[in-house]
Amino acid sequence: MTKKAKIIGTGSYLPERVLTNRDLELMVETSDEWIVSRTGMKERRIAADSEYTSDMGAAAGRLAIGNAGLKTSDIDLILVATLTPDYLFPSTACLVPKALGAKKAAAVDLQAACTGYLYALAMAKAFVENKMFKNILVIAAEKLSSITNYKDRSTCVLFGDGAAACVISLEGKGLEIECVKLGADGEQAELLILPAGGSRLPASTETVAAGQHYIKMAGNEVFKHAVRRMEAACKDCLEELGLKEIEISWLIPHQANMRIIDAIAKRFEHLPSERIFKTVQKYGNTSASSVGIALDELLKDKTIEKGERILLTAFGSGFTWGAAVLKA
Ligand code: UT7
Repeated sequence: MTKKAKIIGTGSYLPERVLTNRDLELMVETSDEWIVSRTGMKERRIAADSEYTSDMGAAAGRLAIGNAGLKTSDIDLILVATLTPDYLFPSTACLVPKALGAKKAAAVDLQAACTGYLYALAMAKAFVENKMFKNILVIAAEKLSSITNYKDRSTCVLFGDGAAACVISLEGKGLEIECVKLGADGEQAELLILPAGGSRLPASTETVAAGQHYIKMAGNEVFKHAVRRMEAACKDCLEELGLKEIEISWLIPHQANMRIIDAIAKRFEHLPSERIFKTVQKYGNTSASSVGIALDELLKDKTIEKGERILLTAFGSGFTWGAAVLKA
């Protein structure tokens, strides 16, 4: 039987600074009560001014490589999923090796918004199973505070900064990537968008004055799509593997909103609610990093027995969505 790609090490990094709901009450017309009841969020982390996406990604990457029992020189490809790159170019992935000393690695960014970690997992799986690369460092890193408008209460309460990483290889012990399902649909691209700064609307004094370099989201609409797409992606994975819900030990949904997580949970009636892993209350929505940070915390906090399965799912701008099953 051909060997399957595995996650052989994980890591995550959260900046020190905590932004609480009370802090947000002083910035916009909101309340701790509104934020907790509508999102489940209590606090989120915010990077220091001099701390960039590549720094957070490298910090998470270093931990993942160490956790895998490898040296940075063993990494031959670095994939960075982010929608808040240090620059439009060069890629953030090219900046990470300098910090890590992974000098022989090829490096590239990918942009699938909040689904970035799962898109990167799928690509890494394909690369190692086809023996094009041996040890791939997947990083998801976001400095969402750099594109968040702290005068817009409908978005600024939601987002936080942070990074996650994992090493994918055919060798070593870890979580086998049994299945990844991905999807995309650009029909409603404007519902969750950073309007300016690209080739359609290059930066100008007008775009700055109009606040078009900040995240814009039609939250209500996005909410409905998020629930439907994540449920369907999870069920596609289960169907492909011939698995029942009770064969899943943990579900890690994208940490966008506790109500979205609860709505997905309701659609999995055989999955006990205590088996749905949540970090949204303490980190908010960290976009591409979200499921990766949660996976790293799950592996640190809980004992996962051989044969147990973890289901990851994410949804984001694009729209993009996906799910993956990992087997211990
Ligand atoms: O990561 C990618 C995926 N992201 C998501 O999936 C996010 C999806 N959307 C959401 O999580 C929710 O839609 C939000 C949390 C963004 C908003 O919750 P909602 O229950 O959909 O509220 P809403 O947008 O319908 O707004 C309800 C009311 C409005 O007031 P009116 O028009 O009813 O008077 C808003 O102006 O709540 C108001 N509001 C706030 N009030 C206090 C919006 N933001 C706030 C706020 N504090 N921070």
